[in-house]
Amino acid sequence: MKPINIALDGPAAAGKSTIAKRVAAKLSMIYVDTGAMYRAITYKYLQLNKTEDFSSLVQSSVLSLTYDEEKGQRVILDNQDVTDYLRENDVTNHVSYVASKEPVRTFAVEKQQELAEKKGIVMDGRDIGTVVLPEAELKVYMIASVEERAIRRQKDNELRGIQSNVEQLKQEISDRDQYDMNREISPLKKAEDAITIDTTGMSIEDVTNEILNLVSKF
Ligand code: C5P
Repeated sequence: MKPINIALDGPAAAGKSTIAKRVAAKLSMIYVDTGAMYRAITYKYLQLNKTEDFSSLVQSSVLSLTYDEEKGQRVILDNQDVTDYLRENDVTNHVSYVASKEPVRTFAVEKQQELAEKKGIVMDGRDIGTVVLPEAELKVYMIASVEERAIRRQKDNELRGIQSNVEQLKQEISDRDQYDMNREISPLKKAEDAITIDTTGMSIEDVTNEILNLVSKF
């Protein structure tokens, strides 16, 4: 198989990261979770008492990704491993706002494009097929019903010892999608040449196999 990049986009909690990790492992490719980069900047934004100076926020930031055999992708911000803070509610509730700001997007997209230069990357996000890697060999747009996404998120939370309410999760997921789809810069949308997979009712295994099957055509 010749080296390729895979762009995996879709709304919140559609299972992109779970699938991207598996596809990357099966194909010995590198998985890049771009949401984690926006989350890291959001973590710093909160630490700086919600600064509105987004240019200074990113100019003062040194952000890199490292890979741990056991724990997978780690996000290093200003010499600190911040990965374990990135799923906190406060970060989740502010990330779409921070990610809508132009300096933040320019900063993150540049890093993402650098990472993908050598190919062999499975990258998940919202604008990978449309903006970050418009030349990606394979583009997948993953969707699922909001009901199912909320239930999956609740199960994930349970595994992490966090109790959550499905109705509230449905609301939060829908709000985040609306914000991401309607922002001015690089809104969440399907690239024209992306293949849509509706994962509602599908197992992780089935979705992974469907993507591996698409890759096998290269
Ligand atoms: O994928 P995840 O849920 O971690 O993404 C968090 C948020 O980061 C998204 O809701 C979106 O606002 C933003 N994001 C983005 N572009 C990406 C990846 C994430 O705007 N490529």
